[in-house]
Amino acid sequence: MPERTPYIAANWKMHLTRAPAVQLARDVVAQLADVTGAEVVLCPPATALDAVGRVLAGTRVLLGAQTMHWEDHGAYTGEISAPMLVDLGCRAVILGHSERRSYFGERDEEVGRKTRSAVVHDLLPIVCVGESLAEREAGSTLRVVQVQTERALEGVSRELAPGIVVAYEPLWAIGTGKVATTEQAQEVHAFIRGLLSNLHGETVAQRMRILYGGSMKPANAPDLLGQKDIDGGLIGGASLESRSRVTNTAPPFEPRDVSTSALDRALMSYPASAAYAWGRRKRPTRCPGTPPAARQRPAAGGSRAT
Ligand code: 13P
Repeated sequence: MPERTPYIAANWKMHLTRAPAVQLARDVVAQLADVTGAEVVLCPPATALDAVGRVLAGTRVLLGAQTMHWEDHGAYTGEISAPMLVDLGCRAVILGHSERRSYFGERDEEVGRKTRSAVVHDLLPIVCVGESLAEREAGSTLRVVQVQTERALEGVSRELAPGIVVAYEPLWAIGTGKVATTEQAQEVHAFIRGLLSNLHGETVAQRMRILYGGSMKPANAPDLLGQKDIDGGLIGGASLESRSRVTNTAPPFEPRDVSTSALDRALMSYPASAAYAWGRRKRPTRCPGTPPAARQRPAAGGSRAT
């Protein structure tokens, strides 16, 4: 079975001016200094990309943007292109987020154009798909997700497809505190994997990462990330907190999983890293009670078996 490196993306949306964005980025970098088995990307607002990029330069944490235009340049007032994002050091870009679709009228066709532009410019597109509550209740979740996924990936070659990440974000779970059950999420993720297999073959589909987004936080990340086809998270609100309740109150973990080491406290103190830590715990790399110094860490760029 191919291996997929877990991918954790923090979507800061329209929050944080430069100074607090830089501070949060510094906190995240410090907390993730020793993390090697997952890719973590921070997506600040466009105004903070440059400043946050300077903090992330030379670290393992990647810089990402929240949207872009499909053309490289032109008379598109207010827009930013893929080459401009690359110039700022971006490695990824969120595309087709439901907030862009619903508030700014972004359509599948445009998401597809943006996706093609991103892969051509070596930016990793995080393509968002997901159904509304009404669509779920009408029983059309899979159909909606199918159309969005297929249109977004249209025209992308089999060679470039593994450089795309799909994020399943049910609209009713975004910013609401309602999270999809593990069964609901896994069902849609498995369905998306099947679509990717139809489009590009099973080998490519098994290499592509599919993230879950929608009220993900340390308390629910372990169960979600424990699902076979959930390869990471796209985290909104919780990614704005660099210190979780762990540092203040009891952590939401089973006692057997709570380590007292400073590193593990740090790993749990940022949702992204907490999610990563839990993903890592799916593999028995460490027996409960093993002293931190003796535990194994995945090698740089290490991957998670799925
Ligand atoms: P929340 O994590 O705040 O629900 O947001 C999810 C999201 O929209 C990430 O892109």
